Amino acid sequence: MPIDSRLQTFETTWVPRLNAPLADAIATDSGDARLAEAMSYSVLAGGKRLRPLLTVATMQTLGAPFDDQRDWRPVMALELLHTYSLIHDDLPAMDNDALRRGEPTNHMKFGAGMATLAGDGLLTLAFQWLTATDLPATTQAALVQALAVAAGPHGMVAGQAKDVQNEHVDLPMAQLRVLHREKTGALLHYAVQAGLILAGAPQTQWAPYLQFADAFGLAFQIYDDILDVVSTPAELGKATQKDAGEAKNTYPGKLGLVGANQALIQTIAQGQAALQAVPASVDTELLAAFFSYFDTKRVK
Ligand code: IPE
Ligand code: IPE
Ligand code: MG
Ligand code: MG
Ligand code: MG
Repeated sequence: MPIDSRLQTFETTWVPRLNAPLADAIATDSGDARLAEAMSYSVLAGGKRLRPLLTVATMQTLGAPFDDQRDWRPVMALELLHTYSLIHDDLPAMDNDALRRGEPTNHMKFGAGMATLAGDGLLTLAFQWLTATDLPATTQAALVQALAVAAGPHGMVAGQAKDVQNEHVDLPMAQLRVLHREKTGALLHYAVQAGLILAGAPQTQWAPYLQFADAFGLAFQIYDDILDVVSTPAELGKATQKDAGEAKNTYPGKLGLVGANQALIQTIAQGQAALQAVPASVDTELLAAFFSYFDTKRVK
Protein backbone atom coordinates (compact mmCIF):
# COMPACT_ATOMS: atom_id res chain seq x y z
CA MET A 1 0.00 0.00 0.00
CA PRO A 2 1.66 3.27 -1.04
CA ILE A 3 1.85 6.29 1.27
CA ASP A 4 -1.22 8.48 0.79
CA SER A 5 -0.44 11.21 -1.76
CA ARG A 6 -1.65 13.95 0.58
CA LEU A 7 0.81 12.81 3.24
CA GLN A 8 3.56 12.55 0.63
CA THR A 9 3.01 16.15 -0.53
CA PHE A 10 2.90 17.32 3.07
CA GLU A 11 6.21 15.56 3.82
CA THR A 12 7.89 16.95 0.71
CA THR A 13 6.93 20.48 1.76
CA TRP A 14 7.64 20.24 5.44
CA VAL A 15 10.64 17.97 6.00
CA PRO A 16 13.13 20.36 4.31
CA ARG A 17 11.58 23.36 6.05
CA LEU A 18 11.88 21.72 9.47
CA ASN A 19 15.39 20.35 8.81
CA ALA A 20 16.96 23.52 7.39
CA PRO A 21 17.95 25.28 10.65
CA LEU A 22 19.00 22.13 12.56
CA ALA A 23 22.73 21.88 11.86
CA ASP A 24 23.47 25.54 12.61
CA ALA A 25 21.17 25.68 15.62
CA ILE A 26 22.73 22.61 17.27
CA ALA A 27 26.25 23.94 16.69
CA THR A 28 25.32 27.39 18.03
CA ASP A 29 23.82 25.93 21.18
CA SER A 30 26.72 23.55 21.99
CA GLY A 31 29.85 24.55 23.92
CA ASP A 32 31.98 21.62 22.78
CA ALA A 33 32.76 20.84 19.15
CA ARG A 34 32.96 17.06 19.51
CA LEU A 35 29.72 16.97 21.49
CA ALA A 36 28.00 19.10 18.84
CA GLU A 37 29.32 16.72 16.18
CA ALA A 38 27.96 13.68 18.02
CA MET A 39 24.57 15.32 18.57
CA SER A 40 24.28 16.49 14.95
CA TYR A 41 25.47 13.13 13.64
CA SER A 42 22.37 11.28 14.81
CA VAL A 43 19.88 14.09 14.23
CA LEU A 44 21.08 14.70 10.66
CA ALA A 45 21.51 11.00 9.79
CA GLY A 46 17.92 11.03 8.59
CA GLY A 47 14.75 9.83 10.19
CA LYS A 48 11.23 10.26 8.94
CA ARG A 49 10.54 13.32 11.15
CA LEU A 50 7.15 11.78 11.81
CA ARG A 51 6.67 13.38 15.22
CA PRO A 52 7.21 17.04 14.23
CA LEU A 53 5.21 16.38 11.05
CA LEU A 54 2.34 15.24 13.23
CA THR A 55 2.59 18.46 15.26
CA VAL A 56 2.49 20.63 12.14
CA ALA A 57 -0.37 18.55 10.66
CA THR A 58 -2.37 19.03 13.86
CA MET A 59 -1.73 22.79 13.75
CA GLN A 60 -2.79 22.90 10.11
CA THR A 61 -5.92 20.85 10.81
CA LEU A 62 -6.93 23.35 13.48
CA GLY A 63 -6.32 26.29 11.16
CA ALA A 64 -3.37 27.76 13.07
CA PRO A 65 -1.86 30.73 11.19
CA PHE A 66 1.48 30.00 9.51
CA ASP A 67 4.04 32.74 9.22
CA ASP A 68 6.75 31.96 6.62
CA GLN A 69 9.39 33.39 8.92
CA ARG A 70 8.31 31.22 11.84
CA ASP A 71 11.08 29.75 13.98
CA TRP A 72 10.34 26.00 14.10
CA ARG A 73 12.71 25.14 16.95
CA PRO A 74 9.85 24.61 19.44
CA VAL A 75 8.38 22.01 17.05
CA MET A 76 11.75 20.35 16.33
CA ALA A 77 12.45 20.07 20.06
CA LEU A 78 10.53 16.79 19.96
CA GLU A 79 12.79 15.44 17.20
CA LEU A 80 15.84 16.20 19.36
CA LEU A 81 14.25 14.38 22.25
CA HIS A 82 13.22 11.42 20.07
CA THR A 83 16.78 11.20 18.67
CA TYR A 84 18.17 11.12 22.22
CA SER A 85 15.83 8.21 22.97
CA LEU A 86 17.19 6.32 19.94
CA ILE A 87 20.85 6.97 20.85
CA HIS A 88 20.32 5.65 24.37
CA ASP A 89 18.09 2.78 23.15
CA ASP A 90 20.97 1.58 20.94
CA LEU A 91 23.65 1.67 23.67
CA PRO A 92 25.43 -1.61 24.50
CA ALA A 93 23.73 -1.65 27.90
CA MET A 94 20.30 -1.38 26.26
CA ASP A 95 19.49 -2.87 22.82
CA ASN A 96 23.14 -2.99 21.75
CA ASP A 97 22.59 -2.02 18.13
CA ALA A 98 25.20 -1.08 15.53
CA LEU A 99 23.04 0.51 12.80
CA ARG A 100 20.59 3.43 13.03
CA ARG A 101 19.13 5.66 10.34
CA GLY A 102 21.34 3.84 7.85
CA GLU A 103 24.58 4.77 9.65
CA PRO A 104 26.69 3.29 12.46
CA THR A 105 25.01 4.02 15.79
CA ASN A 106 26.25 6.97 17.82
CA HIS A 107 28.28 4.82 20.24
CA MET A 108 29.92 2.89 17.37
CA LYS A 109 31.16 6.18 15.97
CA PHE A 110 31.84 8.25 19.11
CA GLY A 111 32.10 5.68 21.91
CA ALA A 112 29.53 4.91 24.63
CA GLY A 113 30.56 7.81 26.86
CA MET A 114 30.14 10.48 24.19
CA ALA A 115 26.95 8.81 22.89
CA THR A 116 25.47 8.98 26.39
CA LEU A 117 26.40 12.67 26.55
CA ALA A 118 25.05 13.36 23.05
CA GLY A 119 21.74 11.93 24.27
CA ASP A 120 21.90 14.01 27.45
CA GLY A 121 22.64 17.09 25.36
CA LEU A 122 19.73 16.51 22.98
CA LEU A 123 17.31 15.84 25.84
CA THR A 124 18.23 19.08 27.54
CA LEU A 125 18.46 21.15 24.36
CA ALA A 126 14.90 20.05 23.51
CA PHE A 127 13.61 21.96 26.54
CA GLN A 128 15.80 24.95 25.70
CA TRP A 129 14.26 25.04 22.21
CA LEU A 130 10.72 24.91 23.59
CA THR A 131 11.42 28.23 25.25
CA ALA A 132 13.77 29.73 22.64
CA THR A 133 11.22 31.89 20.82
CA ASP A 134 8.78 34.64 21.68
CA LEU A 135 5.78 32.33 22.07
CA PRO A 136 3.55 33.48 24.96
CA ALA A 137 4.86 32.33 28.35
CA THR A 138 1.70 30.26 28.97
CA THR A 139 2.25 28.38 25.69
CA GLN A 140 5.90 27.72 26.57
CA ALA A 141 4.97 26.46 30.02
CA ALA A 142 2.27 24.18 28.60
CA LEU A 143 4.73 22.69 26.07
CA VAL A 144 7.43 22.16 28.70
CA GLN A 145 5.01 20.48 31.10
CA ALA A 146 3.51 18.23 28.41
CA LEU A 147 6.89 17.15 27.00
CA ALA A 148 8.29 16.44 30.46
CA VAL A 149 5.31 14.20 31.27
CA ALA A 150 5.51 12.40 27.91
CA ALA A 151 9.27 11.86 27.87
CA GLY A 152 10.01 11.29 31.53
CA PRO A 153 9.51 8.63 34.20
CA HIS A 154 5.76 8.56 33.62
CA GLY A 155 6.11 8.20 29.85
CA MET A 156 8.83 7.08 27.46
CA VAL A 157 11.42 6.35 30.15
CA ALA A 158 8.90 4.23 32.09
CA GLY A 159 8.25 2.19 28.95
CA GLN A 160 11.95 1.72 28.29
CA ALA A 161 12.38 0.63 31.93
CA LYS A 162 9.66 -2.00 31.48
CA ASP A 163 11.22 -3.06 28.17
CA VAL A 164 14.67 -3.74 29.62
CA GLN A 165 13.40 -5.35 32.82
CA ASN A 166 11.14 -7.78 31.03
CA GLU A 167 13.48 -9.31 28.47
CA HIS A 168 13.00 -13.06 29.07
CA VAL A 169 9.80 -12.37 31.04
CA ASP A 170 6.53 -13.17 29.30
CA LEU A 171 4.28 -10.16 29.97
CA PRO A 172 0.49 -10.47 29.72
CA MET A 173 -0.99 -8.62 26.72
CA ALA A 174 -2.51 -5.86 28.86
CA GLN A 175 0.92 -5.04 30.32
CA LEU A 176 2.59 -5.15 26.93
CA ARG A 177 0.04 -2.62 25.68
CA VAL A 178 0.97 -0.29 28.55
CA LEU A 179 4.68 -0.78 27.81
CA HIS A 180 4.15 0.15 24.14
CA ARG A 181 1.93 3.11 24.99
CA GLU A 182 4.67 4.41 27.27
CA LYS A 183 7.85 3.73 25.34
CA THR A 184 6.51 4.86 21.97
CA GLY A 185 2.96 6.15 22.38
CA ALA A 186 3.82 8.89 24.85
CA LEU A 187 5.98 10.91 22.43
CA LEU A 188 3.40 10.55 19.65
CA HIS A 189 0.71 11.68 22.09
CA TYR A 190 2.84 14.73 22.81
CA ALA A 191 3.35 15.35 19.06
CA VAL A 192 -0.38 15.91 18.64
CA GLN A 193 -0.75 17.66 22.00
CA ALA A 194 1.96 20.16 20.99
CA GLY A 195 -0.06 20.93 17.86
CA LEU A 196 -3.17 21.52 19.97
CA ILE A 197 -1.24 23.80 22.33
CA LEU A 198 0.45 25.75 19.52
CA ALA A 199 -2.86 26.16 17.67
CA GLY A 200 -4.45 27.48 20.86
CA ALA A 201 -7.25 24.89 20.76
CA PRO A 202 -9.35 24.92 23.95
CA GLN A 203 -8.82 21.79 26.05
CA THR A 204 -12.50 20.90 25.70
CA GLN A 205 -11.72 20.06 22.04
CA TRP A 206 -8.62 17.91 22.66
CA ALA A 207 -10.09 14.45 23.40
CA PRO A 208 -10.65 13.03 19.89
CA TYR A 209 -7.26 14.28 18.68
CA LEU A 210 -5.47 12.69 21.62
CA GLN A 211 -7.41 9.43 21.16
CA PHE A 212 -6.25 9.48 17.55
CA ALA A 213 -2.67 10.07 18.74
CA ASP A 214 -2.80 7.22 21.24
CA ALA A 215 -4.11 4.77 18.66
CA PHE A 216 -1.45 5.95 16.21
CA GLY A 217 1.25 5.50 18.86
CA LEU A 218 0.26 1.95 19.76
CA ALA A 219 -0.09 1.05 16.08
CA PHE A 220 3.36 2.53 15.47
CA GLN A 221 5.10 0.16 17.91
CA ILE A 222 3.07 -2.87 16.77
CA TYR A 223 4.16 -2.09 13.21
CA ASP A 224 7.79 -1.55 14.32
CA ASP A 225 7.67 -5.01 15.94
CA ILE A 226 6.20 -6.49 12.73
CA LEU A 227 8.89 -4.81 10.61
CA ASP A 228 11.56 -6.30 12.88
CA VAL A 229 10.36 -9.70 11.63
CA VAL A 230 9.48 -9.05 7.98
CA SER A 231 11.78 -6.22 6.86
CA THR A 232 15.51 -5.79 6.22
CA PRO A 233 18.30 -3.48 7.44
CA ALA A 234 18.54 -2.09 3.89
CA GLU A 235 14.92 -0.96 4.06
CA LEU A 236 14.80 0.27 7.65
CA GLY A 237 18.36 1.52 8.19
CA LYS A 238 18.52 -0.45 11.45
CA ALA A 239 19.01 -4.07 12.43
CA THR A 240 16.12 -6.48 12.00
CA GLN A 241 15.31 -9.95 13.38
CA LYS A 242 16.58 -8.83 16.76
CA ASP A 243 13.59 -8.78 19.08
CA ALA A 244 13.07 -12.54 19.29
CA GLY A 245 16.76 -13.20 20.03
CA GLU A 246 16.68 -10.71 22.88
CA ALA A 247 13.40 -12.23 24.13
CA LYS A 248 11.67 -8.85 23.90
CA ASN A 249 7.96 -8.66 24.53
CA THR A 250 6.40 -7.88 21.14
CA TYR A 251 3.06 -8.30 19.42
CA PRO A 252 4.39 -10.80 16.84
CA GLY A 253 6.19 -12.68 19.61
CA LYS A 254 2.99 -13.12 21.57
CA LEU A 255 0.31 -13.27 18.86
CA GLY A 256 2.24 -14.43 15.81
CA LEU A 257 2.60 -12.26 12.71
CA VAL A 258 -1.00 -12.67 11.61
CA GLY A 259 -2.34 -11.94 15.10
CA ALA A 260 -0.10 -8.89 15.40
CA ASN A 261 -1.30 -7.63 12.03
CA GLN A 262 -4.92 -8.08 13.16
CA ALA A 263 -4.18 -6.06 16.28
CA LEU A 264 -2.59 -3.41 14.06
CA ILE A 265 -5.69 -3.25 11.83
CA GLN A 266 -7.94 -2.99 14.88
CA THR A 267 -5.84 -0.24 16.44
CA ILE A 268 -5.85 1.76 13.19
CA ALA A 269 -9.66 1.44 13.08
CA GLN A 270 -9.85 2.86 16.62
CA GLY A 271 -7.75 5.83 15.56
CA GLN A 272 -9.90 6.45 12.50
CA ALA A 273 -13.05 6.27 14.64
CA ALA A 274 -11.56 8.87 16.99
CA LEU A 275 -11.10 11.28 14.09
CA GLN A 276 -14.70 10.77 13.11
CA ALA A 277 -15.70 12.27 16.46
CA VAL A 278 -14.11 15.59 15.44
CA PRO A 279 -16.77 18.11 14.32
CA ALA A 280 -17.54 17.77 10.60
CA SER A 281 -16.45 21.36 9.94
CA VAL A 282 -12.82 20.27 10.55
CA ASP A 283 -11.00 18.49 7.70
CA THR A 284 -9.20 15.56 9.35
CA GLU A 285 -8.02 13.92 6.12
CA LEU A 286 -4.40 14.94 6.58
CA LEU A 287 -4.27 13.37 10.04
CA ALA A 288 -6.06 10.26 8.77
CA ALA A 289 -3.47 10.03 5.97
CA PHE A 290 -0.79 9.31 8.61
CA PHE A 291 -2.28 5.82 8.92
CA SER A 292 -1.04 5.10 5.40
CA TYR A 293 2.41 4.79 6.97
CA PHE A 294 1.27 1.31 8.10
CA ASP A 295 1.22 -1.25 5.32
CA THR A 296 -1.15 -3.87 6.68
CA LYS A 297 -0.63 -5.98 3.52
CA ARG A 298 2.96 -6.86 4.42
CA VAL A 299 1.71 -9.78 6.44
CA LYS A 300 -0.26 -12.25 4.34
C1 IPE B 1 11.91 4.36 15.89
O1 IPE B 1 11.17 5.50 15.55
C2 IPE B 1 11.72 4.06 17.34
C3 IPE B 1 10.38 3.59 17.67
C4 IPE B 1 9.61 4.27 18.45
C5 IPE B 1 9.91 2.33 17.17
P1 IPE B 1 11.06 5.97 14.04
O2 IPE B 1 10.68 4.79 13.18
O3 IPE B 1 10.17 7.16 13.94
O4 IPE B 1 12.56 6.34 13.70
P2 IPE B 1 13.15 7.49 12.77
O5 IPE B 1 12.96 8.79 13.49
O6 IPE B 1 12.41 7.47 11.45
O7 IPE B 1 14.59 7.13 12.62
C1 IPE C 1 12.32 1.82 21.15
O1 IPE C 1 11.68 0.66 20.72
C2 IPE C 1 11.45 2.93 21.42
C3 IPE C 1 12.19 4.05 22.02
C4 IPE C 1 11.72 4.66 23.04
C5 IPE C 1 13.48 4.48 21.47
P1 IPE C 1 12.64 -0.28 19.88
O2 IPE C 1 13.83 -0.64 20.65
O3 IPE C 1 11.83 -1.38 19.29
O4 IPE C 1 13.04 0.73 18.70
P2 IPE C 1 14.04 0.34 17.52
O5 IPE C 1 13.46 -0.87 16.82
O6 IPE C 1 15.37 0.08 18.14
O7 IPE C 1 14.01 1.55 16.64
MG1 MG D 1 14.40 -0.81 22.68
MG1 MG E 1 15.89 -0.73 19.92
MG1 MG F 1 11.97 -2.12 17.28
